[in-house]
Amino acid sequence: MWKRGVQSLPSTVGVGVMRKLGARAKRCLVAGGAGFIGSNLVRVLLARGMQVDCVDDLSTGRQGNIADLKQDPSFRFIKLDVSNAEACARLLRRNYGEVYHLACPTGVPNIEILGEEMLLASSSGTYNLLAIARRSGARFLFTSTAEAYGDPQVFPQAESYPGNVDPVGPRSAYEEAKRFGEALTCFYGRKHGVDVRIVRIFNTYGPRMSPDDQRVIPQMIASLINGEPASIYGDGSQTRTFLHVNDLVAGLLTVMKRGCNGEVYNIGGSKQITITALFEAVKEATGLKGSAAYQRHFISDHRGRWPDTSKIEALGWRQKVSLDEGLREIYAEFLTELELRRAVEESLVASLARGGSRRQPARA
Ligand SMILES: NC(=O)c1ccc[n+]([C@@H]2O[C@H](COP(=O)([O-])OP(=O)(O)OC[C@H]3O[C@@H](n4cnc5c(N)ncnc54)[C@H](O)[C@@H]3O)[C@@H](O)[C@H]2O)c1
Repeated sequence: MWKRGVQSLPSTVGVGVMRKLGARAKRCLVAGGAGFIGSNLVRVLLARGMQVDCVDDLSTGRQGNIADLKQDPSFRFIKLDVSNAEACARLLRRNYGEVYHLACPTGVPNIEILGEEMLLASSSGTYNLLAIARRSGARFLFTSTAEAYGDPQVFPQAESYPGNVDPVGPRSAYEEAKRFGEALTCFYGRKHGVDVRIVRIFNTYGPRMSPDDQRVIPQMIASLINGEPASIYGDGSQTRTFLHVNDLVAGLLTVMKRGCNGEVYNIGGSKQITITALFEAVKEATGLKGSAAYQRHFISDHRGRWPDTSKIEALGWRQKVSLDEGLREIYAEFLTELELRRAVEESLVASLARGGSRRQPARA
């Protein structure tokens, strides 16, 4: 709709005005926009001339991921918890064309710590964000996960596979949270006529992951950099696929633009790799040497995951970034970040030694 409006403006209207009008009509809401994927998505949306409202409670996201964007007049950061209906009510007054729901604490180690928050972000949070989309007449995209398939018995997993999930198992707070979020998204869409779509994301990595992130790739790289053994849970023969965040963001935009109302789309890497082979690939890409510490999983693990991506590929999406290329990129970024942290720590120690005031280093 906005496209038609902008295109029909008289040719005498300047590009600046056109951009302004187009951008105003193209305001997006990105919930979870200070997180790893969200902050990459926000950047691409801004580069495409959109206005972006980013909401995040910073529970697992980082201010540093969006700090530079705060200068951009098209970008607005609002710190709020999407599961809080009262806090979300203020967003009902804004007018959005697209709503992306990525707000949920992530990482398997966080299931035991933030399980309740995962359940709330995907239930109440999804409900509140759907209401905002309905009020604006916006398209709504819910980011689900490969974990919605639980411990799959069928390979590869197509969207039609209902999964193998234990509703009260140790990973259920995350798995069932996302499954509930999917059910609510579909039902609400049908009942209230909201245009909705769901993307089930398989393991993704890339820039703006924190070196403190306990997910497998950052954990392995950070351990190698620090000269510590990398943790591998179980015997390392479990398989995963890995997708670079640039490919993921391209997929989210593809589904938002060309996906069908009420449909679910898998997105993930095409090649299965064992965790032991991943460790070898990380060493190869970074040139670092080190050992792995094989240990019992602290919660429980799934033997494998492999997405059938034919449905999203039918929309024109393709994986482009190779694992080797992506690993080299994230390694370079970690080196820069860790170097920066060291410099801040050293200057703090020096200032304390000089008897200066004790200041906290900014969170990287
Ligand atoms: N990275 C992956 O491999 C992967 C795989 C499957 C699914 N996903 C999904 O993609 C989305 C983004 O994941 P990510 O990897 O960027 O993780 P992330 O933890 O970096 O990002 C999630 C963001 O949501 C924010 N958040 C959490 N609860 C919130 C709440 N109640 N209100 C407002 N903000 C809240 C966090 O602070 C964080 O910034 C998540 O929904 C996640 O479940 C990611």
